Amino acid sequence: MAAKIPTQFKGRSLLNWIDYEPEEIQQFLDLAIALKEEKKRGEINQRFIGKTIALIFEKRSTRTRCSFETGFGEEGGHPVFLSTQDIQLGGKESVEDTARVLGRMFSAIEFRGFKQEHVEKLAEYSGIPVINGLTDDFHPTQALADIMTLQENFGHLKGLHLVFAGDGRNNVARSLMLISAKMGINFTIFSPKELYPDTKIQEICKPFAEKSGAKITICDDISLVKGADAIYTDVWVSMGEESLKESRCALLAPFQVNEEMIQKAGNKDCIFLHCLPAVKGEEVTADVIEGNRSKVWDQAENRKYTIKAIMLALIA
Ligand code: CP
Ligand code: NVA
Repeated sequence: MAAKIPTQFKGRSLLNWIDYEPEEIQQFLDLAIALKEEKKRGEINQRFIGKTIALIFEKRSTRTRCSFETGFGEEGGHPVFLSTQDIQLGGKESVEDTARVLGRMFSAIEFRGFKQEHVEKLAEYSGIPVINGLTDDFHPTQALADIMTLQENFGHLKGLHLVFAGDGRNNVARSLMLISAKMGINFTIFSPKELYPDTKIQEICKPFAEKSGAKITICDDISLVKGADAIYTDVWVSMGEESLKESRCALLAPFQVNEEMIQKAGNKDCIFLHCLPAVKGEEVTADVIEGNRSKVWDQAENRKYTIKAIMLALIA
């Protein structure tokens, strides 16, 4: 039987998870799991017939673009890829004007780029659902795939201990902090003080964590990885920060995920996660990412079903 699509999200945007209740995030997750099962059964559905989505990419992408493009196309919809080589966004044409034009032509917009403000403006001015495919501040579709991978491995989310080691102020770390706070996952950021997440995002997460019972810890003390169910890392140099490579690598070298760190977790069931792409030998050693604790390929596969779930809930 085809997955049941919740109807109450139709027309909304996903800019980050701040505006979504934990029960709603759980509905997206349940839908993604159902869509993965549908695919395994070989079911074909055409729930986007007559629909179009604009995929705006200011930054490069493999997983996110391919998930949106194949996920939308397989369901009978027409995705249109627009890079900064193709459109005038933010240059000759303002974000507001681009939004108003795309809003007249498309069913929805996905945006990957630099400024969070731009994805917010697209949502404000287009009048159609807008999905954040990564900005400097947030990567919400990634965070949903990450908790889906935790759910698949542990059968539950509440009370798990997720450790993020590395650049604690980047988009992936901030999104994980937010979704963990909402879903009751104990979340530790292990990073140098210089790269602690800003106090604003910490303040945003605080009431969500109090409500869900999640414990949020930010530290530069490796002993706090003890008991981790999952250790997660991301590149040391995010897109747009290439000029900082040398100083970042020096600062983050002690925060590399390697076998020694995994051993410090002291949990035989501890898994390794990474949003990818990975720079092996920098944020993670080749033996850890290629080893049997690594769930990174499942995690990448789950991008497709979580993105499809988000699109179906917001657009279909
Ligand atoms: N994890 C992720 O967003 O991958 P891409 O940059 O390839 O889309
Ligand atoms: N933090 C990384 C994530 C890539 C998926 C970046 O922004 O480049």
